[in-house]
Amino acid sequence: MSRASAAPPPMPPLAQPVAIPVEPSLWDRFTNWASENKALVYTIAGVAVVVTSAGVVYYLNGDAQKPRSAAQSKPSKKERRKRKEAERQAEASKSTSAGEQAKAPTVEAVDELPEINEDTVATFTDEQRRDYALQLKNAGNKAYGSKDYDRAIDLYSKAILCKPDSIFYSNRAACYNAQSVWDKVVEDTTAAINLDPTYVKALNRRANAYEHLSQFSESLLDYTASCIIDEFKTESSTNAVERLLKKVAEQKAEEILKSKDPNKLPSPTFVSNYIQSFRAKPRPEGLEDDVELPESTGKGQLQLGLKAMEKKTHEGYEEAANAFEKALELGDLGEHEALAYNLRGTFRNLRGAQEQALQDMDKSIELDPSYTQSYVKRASMHLEMGDRASAAADLEQALSQNDSDPDIYYHRAQLHFIHGEFQDAAKDYQKSIDLDSSFIFSHIQLGVTQYKMGSVASSMATFRRCVKNFDKVPDVYNYYGELLLDQSKYDEAIQKFDTAMEMEKQTKPLAMNVLPLINKALALFQQKAEFTEAEKLCEKALIIDPECDIAVATMAQLLLQQGKITEALKYFERAAELARTPGEIVNALSYAEATRTQIQVQEKYPQLAAKLQGMGAGAAGMGAGAFAGAR
Ligand SMILES: *[C@@H]1O[C@H](CO)[C@@H](O)[C@H](O)[C@H]1NC(C)=O
Repeated sequence: MSRASAAPPPMPPLAQPVAIPVEPSLWDRFTNWASENKALVYTIAGVAVVVTSAGVVYYLNGDAQKPRSAAQSKPSKKERRKRKEAERQAEASKSTSAGEQAKAPTVEAVDELPEINEDTVATFTDEQRRDYALQLKNAGNKAYGSKDYDRAIDLYSKAILCKPDSIFYSNRAACYNAQSVWDKVVEDTTAAINLDPTYVKALNRRANAYEHLSQFSESLLDYTASCIIDEFKTESSTNAVERLLKKVAEQKAEEILKSKDPNKLPSPTFVSNYIQSFRAKPRPEGLEDDVELPESTGKGQLQLGLKAMEKKTHEGYEEAANAFEKALELGDLGEHEALAYNLRGTFRNLRGAQEQALQDMDKSIELDPSYTQSYVKRASMHLEMGDRASAAADLEQALSQNDSDPDIYYHRAQLHFIHGEFQDAAKDYQKSIDLDSSFIFSHIQLGVTQYKMGSVASSMATFRRCVKNFDKVPDVYNYYGELLLDQSKYDEAIQKFDTAMEMEKQTKPLAMNVLPLINKALALFQQKAEFTEAEKLCEKALIIDPECDIAVATMAQLLLQQGKITEALKYFERAAELARTPGEIVNALSYAEATRTQIQVQEKYPQLAAKLQGMGAGAAGMGAGAFAGAR
């Protein structure tokens, strides 16, 4: 628990060194990382980002959903005490014990009050108003207690006429709440909050009403404010924040999906990673470079697309995607038809058109049942859609066609890996290597799997062997570096990332993989909290690959941890734009919305901003030591 007690969350390490997952997307990584680092996730996605000027981030412990920050042990703030007192008073006046009976006005006693309306109230003295208001409110509480809501509403309304009070409004709102008259609840709680901006009960009541009215953003804002006032001590409110965050994100995701360009490809980093998770095959016979094929034919377009893919750039992939669409429109593909469906499906999947992509793979398999790659790709699509059973069935079918195809074992290993079944994964990676040892990613993934199983020594040995046998492959150094980083061996890790960057530059100057840059940024941050250097590296990555979602999200996290919330929001929104599938969009938007709500709370409730600052002051004292101990 030591980590939870005060330490800020660790920076997102590539804590989960997933080398080329089946779908190497940011959000896979993010989700994996998230499950290991609940802290920061709750900070961002969850229950309000509480960032201090010192860049220390408070967070909730995921298991307990309780605040675990220094703020928790700090003495309550003045307004909190005041509120407590007011609530205690309200409680006391509700429970009319026998001894108090004589003094406490009853519902009947209220009938003896003079007529209460705007005109008569104007004639009362201040003392009369206070006295009558209290009697009316107490009577209202009794009526509320016996579920006579119309009567209670009438009594509270008269109390308000005598003397406007946040508690009277809030209590009348409770009556409307019981009657499910949500717009009236909003009206009364708003009046209460205007009189007392940190009135938690009223905020929660209004949030609930907004939720019933499907005004999710408003509801989220109120619940977030309530959480901050309450210092995250009320589980129902923190849960509500998470629930609303998801609803808001889903609502907004629908808009994004509607306006999304259906032909947009993800970043070249993403596409390359996906494509290179299959062993490169020579160009099929009849489609090689030296075969002259007119562009006006299906085969010509197929050849064109395959050639364009080899450029590994954004333009190249765009060109390929369009060529495969055209190839199938033109038709007359002969023995290459199954390949054409496979390729069109691959790019449709990359564009996020999952259903269409599945249909293409079905067609490809129907045309050539022995073409195992189509089963494997269909498996990866099923997996991404959360359908593990279909994915496993696809892989079994593929093996029944050809049980000596190393790609099938590699992808079955990936399936085991992402489900945490490391023994089975290791076995399949090894099988893939035994069938064809020239595919570097089987080795890399085997090393990562050994690491995940706790066999650090064998993992490091695997990577040293990789460096020896594949000394020209930058990916080896990148993933080796990730594992070193995970062991806090910063200097060695940075050295590996530098080597990987240098090789990327030399071997693929036009299509650099930017992961080593991002990893180096994380290493610099983790080692020395070097925000500036880390940001620069992310910016560089974004110049090379402007659509790289991992770079965008890493940037957002760096900014968030420095307390630059507004700037972080921009990057989270950008991440949502770049997200590929509906699930990823919702995910990205939850982070964006959590950040946005945080900003809104601070603007709308300046006194809460001050409160957050106050929490920060407590944390600043913990100093950088907390960072070092964070992981
Ligand atoms: C099985 O796959 C391997 C590797 O791709 C290939 O060399 C072999 O020809 C395939 N066998 C059949 C029967 O298709």
